[in-house]
Amino acid sequence: MIIRKSPAELEKMRRAGLLVHEILERMRGMVAPGVSTLDLEVEAEKMMKDAGAKSAFKGYYVPAAGGKYPFVLCTSVNEEVVHGMPSAKRVLKAGDVVSIDTGVSINGYFGDSAVTIPVGEVSDEVKRLLRVTSESLEMAIEQMHSGNRLFDVCGAVERHVVTNGFTIVREYVGHGIGTSLHEEPQVPNYVDRRNENPRLKEGMVLAIEPMVNAGRPETKVLSDRWTAVTRDGSFAAHFEHTVAVTANGPWVLTRP
Ligand code: MF3
Ligand code: CO
Repeated sequence: MIIRKSPAELEKMRRAGLLVHEILERMRGMVAPGVSTLDLEVEAEKMMKDAGAKSAFKGYYVPAAGGKYPFVLCTSVNEEVVHGMPSAKRVLKAGDVVSIDTGVSINGYFGDSAVTIPVGEVSDEVKRLLRVTSESLEMAIEQMHSGNRLFDVCGAVERHVVTNGFTIVREYVGHGIGTSLHEEPQVPNYVDRRNENPRLKEGMVLAIEPMVNAGRPETKVLSDRWTAVTRDGSFAAHFEHTVAVTANGPWVLTRP
């Protein structure tokens, strides 16, 4: 069942969404050669504490990983697709890209967003990967009108990525979000006709999160049981927003 949110509930999700936005903007300002992914984690956790918010990720139990996620950020560098873990040993250098994914809850309502940020100068092909992935998210957001269907959202990402020659990760998907980080429905970045294709209605909120590879689509999980990487070692990009369907059209809760 897809849980629809009242306007008052959307306002609560908005508070969480704006904090997530502020954290990611702070991260964007910090990312530079010589900065470690743990430096980012420490600052993000401090911002959550100062705001009286709870991390949506730290302590989140993931059965496949056999445990609770230990950080407030996922920091996935280069060929890491998602769920990379902050580390003092992972020092960013020019030419890297780092995907930073974070979520919080405030008074029980969640927000979730991710960006992939270039470190110093990156290659033209990597710039194009980031641009196309972020554009695919914008195109999906534009489909978040009541009366459209879930496949309109999924298909918008898929079409833009495929026509630009990149590939879509299939093992990880977006999700409904509200008073939990993950609610129904699943939001794949491709049309999966085995799934239902519900009509979008006012009050539905989706975390749309294209994960796109420069090379082959296949991923594998490293021996740390969390970090997902591209099997072929190609770079990956990941962008995410929490988006509500409203009477006035799409409302991106994770940006001002
Ligand atoms: N944004 C991701 C998601 O929505 C990251 C959560 S993984 C976690 O699934 F384990 F850190 F929570
Ligand atoms: Co998410």
